[in-house]
Amino acid sequence: MNHYARLFYALWPDDATRGHLTRLQASVIGRKVNPENLHLTLAFLGNQTPSLIPALARLVDTLPGQSFTVGIDRYGYFSKPRVAWVGPSETPSPLVELHQILMDALSEAQVPLKPEGKFTPHVTLARDANRLDEPFAPMIPWKVGRIMLIQSLQVKGGVFYSPIVEKALA
Ligand code: 2AM
Repeated sequence: MNHYARLFYALWPDDATRGHLTRLQASVIGRKVNPENLHLTLAFLGNQTPSLIPALARLVDTLPGQSFTVGIDRYGYFSKPRVAWVGPSETPSPLVELHQILMDALSEAQVPLKPEGKFTPHVTLARDANRLDEPFAPMIPWKVGRIMLIQSLQVKGGVFYSPIVEKALA
């Protein structure tokens, strides 16, 4: 019996963007993320009591509904967890604002969160990965079309990201 739900909000790529991101995975050496799981985390909630889920699902309705573009154009690396990723060299202001609005709403709703460091928007390509020497990635102009609340489930052979709610951006 699972007493907690491991949850996060993410920007979820459309199929074309997912295809571009998948091609970038070819450049990295490591345990590659299943292409179906590629995403950009907006807020990691960690383990939460499942009774919070309805409120967390409603919260997406309060987020701005305007689409914006994230220019994915650089490779990055988190040394300690050995994560190779791609992200924007400049975070577009609608993404900064969306992240802030979401964090404020979570705080308002008294969702217990571990203090997070600086928001570094990224899409993890591989774990247990080698550092790439090349900082420049071919530009992917990702027009963000949806925000998802996801429950991460441990399954045989990895994780399954089960969508709880989706908000379309237009
Ligand atoms: P990652 O891609 O950098 O590994 C689901 O696990 C999502 O939540 C992943 O995108 C993961 O980020 C992120 N995540 C997992 N643990 C985290 C933590 N302790 N702090 C911040 N984000 C985390």
